[in-house]
Amino acid sequence: MPEPSVRFLGVSKSFGRAEVLRGIDLDVHSGECVGLAGVNGAGKTTLIKCLLDFCDLDSGAIEIHGTTHRRPRARARLAFLPERFTAPYFLTGREFIAMMLRLFECRYEEERVRAMFAALDLEVAALDKPVRAYSKGMTQKLGLAACFLSQRDLYVLDEPMSGLDPQARDRARDLLLNLKSEGRTLLFTSHSLADVEEVCDRVTVLHAGTMAYAGSPGGLRERYGETSLERAFLKCIEAHA
Ligand SMILES: Nc1ncnc2c1ncn2[C@@H]1O[C@H](COP(=O)(O)OP(=O)(O)O)[C@@H](O)[C@H]1O
Ligand SMILES: [Mg+2]
Repeated sequence: MPEPSVRFLGVSKSFGRAEVLRGIDLDVHSGECVGLAGVNGAGKTTLIKCLLDFCDLDSGAIEIHGTTHRRPRARARLAFLPERFTAPYFLTGREFIAMMLRLFECRYEEERVRAMFAALDLEVAALDKPVRAYSKGMTQKLGLAACFLSQRDLYVLDEPMSGLDPQARDRARDLLLNLKSEGRTLLFTSHSLADVEEVCDRVTVLHAGTMAYAGSPGGLRERYGETSLERAFLKCIEAHA
């Protein structure tokens, strides 16, 4: 089997006396879409911050495309959308996208950018507006647009659907499915099990610092004898409380 796109090996992380992650092992294979589920405070964002080298690990190791996550080079094929994304307030939408595409070493092509805005149901006129005039939903769509235009191999998205209305969620879900059909690798966090179910090949449930489940969404339902993934998830975290 080829090396995984992302490999977490025994990753532990505490903040003070709070042990947030206790020896997390997780492989994300190339072309796979993995959803990281868990209640608020379960450690999803912390795991992603560890992956991106935004904080030090207490123990364990992380590899991205076979390279230690400590090297900036490991992130060369990765696009990241942070939780609570905001763009620099003094830029227009177009300036922000142009800046991000420069960072991603992609050419700015007006037609592609407009098509992406349309796909996310983000009015094209917003390109010329300062991002400080954007609503929360528009800001989230702008962050998603920049990521989806990056043409990277690996997408790490922390709560990509946050702040989106049902229609916008639907659009974003279609774009995630597009990326998947192009063979890109996705790792995203979500507390909405519906998003995970529709997009992900595998779901991992993070609870009390450990991986309470890792496998297919169908497998999680079967394990807890539930037809709804949401209920199976709740039973799973109760069982690991
Ligand atoms: N920088 C930090 N300092 C102290 N505690 C933190 C810090 N970041 C996260 N935590 C704590 O770690 C736990 C996990 O947080 P987080 O990873 O944001 O969870 P999730 O993304 O699953 O909601 C929470 O209890 C949170 O308060
Ligand atoms: Mg979070």
